[in-house]
This record gives sequence, structure tokens and C-alpha cells, in this order.
Amino acid sequence: MKKTILVTGGAGFVGSNLCLKLKEKYPGYSIIAFDNLKRRGSELSIGDFQKNGISFIHGDIRNQEDILAAGEFDVLIEASAEPSVTAGLVSDPTYVINNNLYGSINCFNTCLKNKAILIFLSTSRVYPIDKIEHASFIEENSRFSFGNDQYCEGISKEGISEKLSLEGARSFYGATKLASELFIQEYAAFYGLKASITRFGVIAGPRQMGKTDQGVVTLWMARHYWKQPLKYIGYGGTGKQVRDILHIDDLIDLVDLQIHHIERFEGKIYNAGGGKPNSVSLCEMTAICEKITGNKIAIASELQARQADLRIFITDNSRIEKETGWKPQRSVEMVFTDIFNWIKGNERQLGTILK
Ligand SMILES: NC(=O)c1ccc[n+]([C@@H]2O[C@H](COP(=O)([O-])OP(=O)(O)OC[C@H]3O[C@@H](n4cnc5c(N)ncnc54)[C@H](O)[C@@H]3O)[C@@H](O)[C@H]2O)c1
Repeated sequence: MKKTILVTGGAGFVGSNLCLKLKEKYPGYSIIAFDNLKRRGSELSIGDFQKNGISFIHGDIRNQEDILAAGEFDVLIEASAEPSVTAGLVSDPTYVINNNLYGSINCFNTCLKNKAILIFLSTSRVYPIDKIEHASFIEENSRFSFGNDQYCEGISKEGISEKLSLEGARSFYGATKLASELFIQEYAAFYGLKASITRFGVIAGPRQMGKTDQGVVTLWMARHYWKQPLKYIGYGGTGKQVRDILHIDDLIDLVDLQIHHIERFEGKIYNAGGGKPNSVSLCEMTAICEKITGNKIAIASELQARQADLRIFITDNSRIEKETGWKPQRSVEMVFTDIFNWIKGNERQLGTILK
């Protein structure tokens, strides 16, 4: 059956990849990208949408009338947000709260009007910072890793699972996402909204307009590509902090499954990330970028960690892999290679944004 899919934040990194790949896989579907173009670089997606038969609506999710202008749809993928974890930490948090919480509630209401299903992209940042920072860790040659004996449920050598307690502060970004999750559960219980909620770790790949506060993988590759300096910030300043990286195409495989089998995801909340096999430290990222670009750059050290930063985050994918069959298929090296090729193929256009 043909579907109409509305992607809010459709011109951003995750949204534009979803629009383009879903249209390629399901040419008969109507795909509508909806975006206020707040993120620098999102405007570049519009040309790609025109070439690929994807409609574009310039609108803001904070304004319900803008979303209603999209007309009827079967699926709404909520991929708009202010995605920076530092948003609202040193300045007024009103913007991130209005955008990520009130804006997403407008999306939920529009789903109800259309009897549409909702695919909600949540974040690993819903987990409290202190809980993760108190985990026992081992310092290895090029990275930190979680120790064998942990002090609480939800943290293990495999990473952070859905069992980790939600008690504690998590950043305004994380709080808006957690609050949205809670509202989705209310909408599901009392209004019958069919929804999937997935807590993603770091997602990376082509089309991400990486900057210092968000999109570290693109940032690292771009700085190597254009031979510009970088810094290891915090945790001793040696670049041993670790994240697991999910290739954007693995996210698309999961969202595709959610669109077509929402019943497997309703009423559940899953973590999804690259997982331990796809985890990497900053200094290991440097080695990968040096190998791919052939360039070596200056990397300074700053001892003071940034607010809301984490020494290690690795997604424990056990539950989603066991219950849904989804599993990341693409390696960290592939993520970096794909970003390198994207930058190389669009060097002039991207230079004005990523440099
Ligand atoms: N990138 C990651 O590593 C990651 C990890 C976990 C979850 N997520 C979630 O995935 C979603 C997409 O993130 P992304 O990395 O593509 O971010 P992005 O910044 O690249 O894309 C977000 C898009 O939303 C648009 N936007 C922002 N506010 C809007 C508004 N009020 N109305 C309409 N459009 C608006 C922006 O212009 C941008 O194009 C977000 O909900 C984010 O929280 C991302």
C-alpha cells in the first residue's frame, strides 16, 4: 500500500537521509520534508529533494498551522530538534524547550488528527550524566572502557542498557527528549497513538553538518580534510573518551522496519546504537582520519571537560537485537570513509559550512 510520509526536520542530517533513501526504496510513496532550515547547511537538501521527487515544506513545528499545511499523511517521522547537548546550559533554555518539547507535542497532535503512526527519534542523552560518570572504568592505551564490576543495574562492559535508572540531571536537550517520550506514552495509552520510541546514541554519516557542539564524526573528518586544528577536551586531554557510532544507513534500516511493523515497537522503548564493536575513542578517530585523508593535524589538549560531557557512552543493543532482529551492519571505518567521500565529492559547497 502506498504511504505518505512526513519527515519533520526533513532537511537535516537524519531527516534528509531518510527522505532520500526511503524515496529510492519506495518510489511510489509520497515523501514530504518539513523543515524551518534553522541548521546551517539544511538548505543544501532542497536541491536534492527537487531532483528526487520529494516535496518540501518550509515550516516550523512550533506552529501547528505549519504542520497542518502538510495535509494528510500516514506516518510522521519526528527528526527535527535542536540536537546540541549544550543547548540551554549557558544561556536561556527557552528555545530548546519550546523547540524540542512543545514542537514535538504539535507533531503528536497532528498525528492523532491524521490517524498516522509516529516514529520518534529519542536520544541516549535521556540517561542521567552522574549515573554514567560514576561507572567504573579502565584506562587502556588508546581509550577508556567500562570496568567488569559496576555499581548499578544498566551499566556493564557491553554499555548502557534501558535498565539504567532515570533519576538525575541529563541536560536540557535530554530532558526535552525524555519529556517527549513520556507524553508519547500518554498519547498512546489515552488516545491510541501508535508510536515507536528509540533512544539513539551517536549517529553519523554523509550530510551531517558537524560543528564543535554536535556532529563530532564529521567535525573530525572535516578538520583532517582541510588540515585545521582540533582539541582533545577534558578527561586528561589525551582523547581517550569513547562513543559508539551508528551509521546513518543502519538507522534507516531500523526506521524502515518501524514504519512497516509498528506493532513490534509499540509500548516499548529501545536503545539503538553502533554498540561495543563500533565504539571508538577520539584518538582512535584521529588515527582513522589520518589513514583515510593522509593528513596529520595539530591536536591541542584542554584539561577541563565540557559541561554535560561523558567519559564513555556505549549503547548496549542487547534488547533491540533480541526482540526485533535489527542489528547494526556497518563498521566505524565505513562511516568515516563515507563521510570522506561525501566531503570530497562536494568540497566547494561544503567548504563554506564545515570549514
Ligand atoms: N545526530 C545524532 O547523533 C542524534 C542522536 C540521537 C538522536 N538524534 C535525534 O535525531 C533527530 C535528528 O537529528 P539530526 O542529527 O538530524 O539534527 P540536524 O540538526 O542535522 O537536523 C534537525 C533539523 O531540524 C530542523 N529544525 C530544527 N528546529 C525545527 C523546527 N522548530 N521546525 C522545523 N524544523 C526544525 C533543522 O533546521 C534541521 O534541519 C533529532 O530529533 C535528534 O534529537 C540525533
